[in-house]
Amino acid sequence: MSTLANYLDAHAKDPALSDVITTVTEVGKTISGLLKKGALADILGEAGNQNVQGEEQKKLDVLANDLLLDALAKNTHCAGVASEELDDATPANADGSLLVLFDPLDGSSNIDINMAVGTIFSILPYERQGQKSENSDFLQAGNQQLAAGYLLYGTSTVLALTIADNVVMFSLDPDSGDYILINDHVQIAADTSEYAINSSNYRYWLAPMQQYIDELIAGKTGVRGRDFNTRWVAAMVGDVHRILCRGGLFTYPFDTKYPNKAGKLRLMYEANPMSLLIERAGGAATDAINRILDIEPTDIHQRVPVVLGSKNEVNYVKDLHVQHA
Ligand code: AHG
Ligand code: MN
Ligand code: MN
Ligand code: MN
Repeated sequence: MSTLANYLDAHAKDPALSDVITTVTEVGKTISGLLKKGALADILGEAGNQNVQGEEQKKLDVLANDLLLDALAKNTHCAGVASEELDDATPANADGSLLVLFDPLDGSSNIDINMAVGTIFSILPYERQGQKSENSDFLQAGNQQLAAGYLLYGTSTVLALTIADNVVMFSLDPDSGDYILINDHVQIAADTSEYAINSSNYRYWLAPMQQYIDELIAGKTGVRGRDFNTRWVAAMVGDVHRILCRGGLFTYPFDTKYPNKAGKLRLMYEANPMSLLIERAGGAATDAINRILDIEPTDIHQRVPVVLGSKNEVNYVKDLHVQHA
């Protein structure tokens, strides 16, 4: 049985990258343990403040953020962190060569109902070693990521990771406390009949997305000629995990309710790391038209529409948007 430690020894070209991934995944064990205790660990409910995104923070959003921040601040390779839950990026060790970005707790609305949540992370190179890192150091396109992954705290705890040109998955063994390799070559089928979207936002979407979902709902009586099925975990990490396991399309599209119609998801903490995983597993990830990984960020907290998953379906959505443009 191969463990995460074995895998990193064999495949991570940079020991600093190994070390930072180990720090994040060790914190993941702590968060996983707290979630197992649930109400008994006093982790449920509201924290009583809003984050920079204008969202009410849950206790676990804050706790997970603090655990990651504290652990990474002690890691000599980490030059700074940026998080959905922090107003600004926090400098760590100026001599470090890596920047770490995270959504400490994805799927906050699932915490109090004992449903799947996760941690999403992205690692970028730090170019100004020796100097204190700033927000602007993090403004790098997703195609610059050195590694990306997530921890899904579901019925079991799973780690999906990409540090090379493939995606691998590990399951946390509760007995040994080790992450054990369960899939060394995750691949997404090009075609799918399963999709994930919060349809209650239909009236806020652009016309091509409305048309796309109308076509899927029409099923075999419509232009698509086959029936489709909906699944929505309400945690991106759960929906992306399902897509890595059995294909599908996930979207949080253009949405007129949000600034710049950008939808809900954050480029740096959600869209970029998930897009790297999806592309490296043979899928595609766009903002409906453009490749997410090529977007040049202008703000660490910026939002972006997301359409990702099985390649042919993502391209079908793109064609509809191009026709309407
Ligand atoms: P977060 O909990 O980190 O703020 O992210 C929540 C996101 C994402 O995980 C999920 O896909 C989406 O919000 C769910 O949105 P709805 O509330 O529209 O279901
Ligand atoms: Mn949030
Ligand atoms: Mn999230
Ligand atoms: Mn979050």
